[in-house]
Amino acid sequence: MQIPARGVFVDAPLSADQRQFSNSRFILFAIICCQFLIFEFNTMDFTRFPRRRYCKNPTPLEPLPRLSSHLGGKVDIWIKRDDLLPDASGGNKTRKLEFSIGEAIAQGADTLITCGALQSNHCRLTLAYARKEGLNCHLILIEREPGDYNPKASGNNFLYHLLGASGIRIITAESDPLVEMQKMADQLQKAGKKPYIIPMGASNAVGALGYALFVEELMTQLNDMALKIDQFVIPSGSTGTHAGIVAGLFGNNVDIPVTGINVLSRTKELQTELVHSLAVELAQTLSIPAVPRERVICVDDYIGPGYALPTEAMKEAVFLFAREEGILLDPVYSGKTAAGLVDLVRNGRFSAGSTVLFLHTGGSPALYAYQDVFE
Ligand SMILES: Cc1ncc(COP(=O)(O)O)c(C=O)c1O
Repeated sequence: MQIPARGVFVDAPLSADQRQFSNSRFILFAIICCQFLIFEFNTMDFTRFPRRRYCKNPTPLEPLPRLSSHLGGKVDIWIKRDDLLPDASGGNKTRKLEFSIGEAIAQGADTLITCGALQSNHCRLTLAYARKEGLNCHLILIEREPGDYNPKASGNNFLYHLLGASGIRIITAESDPLVEMQKMADQLQKAGKKPYIIPMGASNAVGALGYALFVEELMTQLNDMALKIDQFVIPSGSTGTHAGIVAGLFGNNVDIPVTGINVLSRTKELQTELVHSLAVELAQTLSIPAVPRERVICVDDYIGPGYALPTEAMKEAVFLFAREEGILLDPVYSGKTAAGLVDLVRNGRFSAGSTVLFLHTGGSPALYAYQDVFE
């Protein structure tokens, strides 16, 4: 018989009792690990980030029975009304600005600088909250084509003047808005101001926190109503809303597929890449595991000739929402996203009997700058 050396284990067969004991120890260890992981996943602590409170109550979550039946009645369409967020005409930027302006104030800023398109909802809301906080606010507006800017234009442009922007600078589509904002910040700093730059659409890891937190509001509503959502359709633009929602769902261990409808002139491949990269950065900020790439779905079929340019499908969707449900969309973001929703429902992309949630991100003030399109 071979005698094993000291300290060397031999593969002697275990008795049934020993095997059972060892198995149960392994199972106990696995349960503890899983609980630790679940705990890690379910805890996203937003209190460690500076934040202002602009969103006082959850936005309505409602069925759209007339629209659902108009589209054939096979799919039950619901809407989450972030267009009804409070203050200067509402919209998705309010959730992001809670964190962006929170950080600006925490850093002692007295002036905000941001940028956007000529009819930017983001610029309107940043300016409105700057006013509410007693901050100055400079806007950098990007022309799509040289000469596009009309200082007398209606819609959000009218509201920039009403809300009293500290300054408006127009740049061309070829300029880099970040460089232009930095130049402005340097000038203001030299003049003794404390500027804070909010990127386009507040779409960085700070602003996107607002849409990761949105998921907690949504899940509370769904759980309270015992409502199961099978698909979620949202706009995908400067990426903060999309990345925030995807990271928030992942961090809450919720597996609802999210379809982002591209509203900027970008391919779905590029948009997927950009949304995913922000979602991963946001996950790091929130100390949750990296968001898998397959969680990001983008569709680029509804942009038409380009960003902010009307399409027939957008017009139809704006009329449908207005006339079937009394809801105002906008021509640039929610109108094109709704055009995507309508087409996907009509083409059977959502299985019969499923419940589809549409995120209304606001923007209706821009309608008044597009009146001729709807005549
Ligand atoms: C009304 C509206 N909806 C959707 C979006 C797109 O959101 P995001 O830029 O976070 O992708 C915007 C962006 O400006 C918007 O103004």
